[in-house]
Amino acid sequence: MEDPKRDPFDLTGRVALVTGAASGLGLAISIGLSERGAAVAAADINEVGLRQAVASLRVSGRAIGVRVDVTDPASIEAMFDRAAQELGPVDILVNCAFVPSPKVASEDTPLDAWERVLRVDLTGYFLCTQAAGKRMIASGRGGSIVNLSSITGSSGIGRELLGYGVAKSGINQLTRELAIEWARYKIRVNAILPCQILTPALRAFMDDPANDGQGLLRTFLHGIPLGRLGNPEDVVGPVAFLASDAAAMVTGVLLPVDGGNLAMNAGGTLRE
Ligand SMILES: NC(=O)c1ccc[n+]([C@@H]2O[C@H](COP(=O)([O-])OP(=O)(O)OC[C@H]3O[C@@H](n4cnc5c(N)ncnc54)[C@H](O)[C@@H]3O)[C@@H](O)[C@H]2O)c1
Repeated sequence: MEDPKRDPFDLTGRVALVTGAASGLGLAISIGLSERGAAVAAADINEVGLRQAVASLRVSGRAIGVRVDVTDPASIEAMFDRAAQELGPVDILVNCAFVPSPKVASEDTPLDAWERVLRVDLTGYFLCTQAAGKRMIASGRGGSIVNLSSITGSSGIGRELLGYGVAKSGINQLTRELAIEWARYKIRVNAILPCQILTPALRAFMDDPANDGQGLLRTFLHGIPLGRLGNPEDVVGPVAFLASDAAAMVTGVLLPVDGGNLAMNAGGTLRE
């Protein structure tokens, strides 16, 4: 029986697996879950980044680094097996790994570029979620799955990044469908929809000479009523909440972490 005195936000004793953990949001989330008590399996295809991530994670708790390619089912199976052997069965999966869409007009997008983005950004989420779900069902313990989606999955941005937006809207539907399908197994499935968050990926995009960084910044800020871009830490609390018992009755939710972006009509006026 659950301890009634346990802080429902506390993650002590839980095992979390985070993909895309070598960088940006995945790294910040891994650290945040570790600081809240979870043992963390940090997974990424980038082994160098992963080593640094695990060094910072071990400051706050038990952590391992696992190399994974989220497009490869065998690699995913090995990742879950290693996490279970070294930390225990995974209670929390955070899907974060992604590659950006090449910026190209949709009418000219080569098939292989389209398929590559969908393979990592959507099929990768499906494969990791499926492997986690199978284990959570078999154990009877349930669990929490948190998918990093984007405001771009709920509304269009028109910046010639079609595959990315389509992958994110697919993640939103995957979240809702599995929340219903797996509710009977006490597996909660939720998504976070961030606006522009200052991670290495976003900085690289804004610094790319093909993009007008200052113009982009003005466009981003025009859509964020709270008046600033996000920091990785802005996403950590909402993910930790969804991962925890405090969210025991929350499933199938697409939670914007967007400073009010999705609440505002594109023609809306911000009060000076
Ligand atoms: N940064 C933002 O503004 C923003 C906004 C909305 C949503 N998001 C979402 O948050 C998530 C993380 O974004 P980020 O900005 O932290 O990105 P990032 O580029 O900093 O991190 C992505 C990580 O995924 C890893 N990765 C790539 N392909 C992989 C594969 N095949 N297998 C395993 N790992 C792989 C990379 O090595 C990298 O460490 C993404 O899903 C992104 O769409 C980010």
